[in-house]
Amino acid sequence: MSNIILNRLKYFICSKHEKGFGIHSPFLFDLITLIFNDKSDKVAYRKLDLIRKELLESDKIISITDFGAGSKIFQSNQRKVSEITKYCTIKKKYGKLLYRLAAYYKPESILELGTSFGISTAYLALGNPNAKVVTIEGCSETSKIAQDTFTLANAKNITLVNGTFEEILPLTFFDLHTLGIVYFDGNHTKKATLNYFEQCIPYTNNESLFIFDDIHWSEEMAEAWEEIKRNKNVTLTVDLFQLGLVYFHKELTKQDFVIRF
Ligand SMILES: C[S@@+](CC[C@H](N)C(=O)[O-])C[C@H]1O[C@@H](n2cnc3c(N)ncnc32)[C@H](O)[C@@H]1O
Repeated sequence: MSNIILNRLKYFICSKHEKGFGIHSPFLFDLITLIFNDKSDKVAYRKLDLIRKELLESDKIISITDFGAGSKIFQSNQRKVSEITKYCTIKKKYGKLLYRLAAYYKPESILELGTSFGISTAYLALGNPNAKVVTIEGCSETSKIAQDTFTLANAKNITLVNGTFEEILPLTFFDLHTLGIVYFDGNHTKKATLNYFEQCIPYTNNESLFIFDDIHWSEEMAEAWEEIKRNKNVTLTVDLFQLGLVYFHKELTKQDFVIRF
């Protein structure tokens, strides 16, 4: 059995509390009942469903420059926009969660590493239109499509920077002095993930929330996730299998939760 299947099995056995019953941490109780379990419809969701549908129906092919850990799906750098949308952009369920996290915590700043076609960026930006949103994408062809997404979504609070995380991330700290929400969704290697995480740590405050995508995508990512959980600045973590949430609230007791979502 592959490690990823084993990890998913472990997640289903260990995860609990999806309804919020029996939770002793008020912080986690609010997270589950007010954010995870909020099933209400939003105009933004429908807007982004339409944009996603258009991308899924596109017959365009673009030339990708890959700066990350490579793909488990694609062999060639000539890729169909429809297939990138299908396999590499955030699933609706998790996009809606990003929206709700941004809407609930109302961070002043949102930083995303890995824009792709801008679907996840738009969920975050529409969740809190008052936030300053910066997103970094290395591939220029991909970035052009993301700009179209932002125009169609009428998300005016996004700055897309086309460049590698390695060159752009240190520069973003001149602009975003403290980090509200940071969504790490590119270059899924252990070394790179921990490197970006450590660069961001000095710019956190009590309210910062880091969200890591694909924490069980590979053995390396699972190891990176274990190391992130152990970091002395981190207090509460929540493993949703696809995403890992990391909080820095000093008043919380250090605890790691696995929640079925
Ligand atoms: C999984 S996709 C992002 C998906 C997007 N967040 C969404 O959910 O819709 C990862 C993106 O990160 C970009 N990327 C990976 N490594 C990078 C690096 N080192 N510098 C800049 N961009 C990178 C890739 O080009 C790719 O578009």
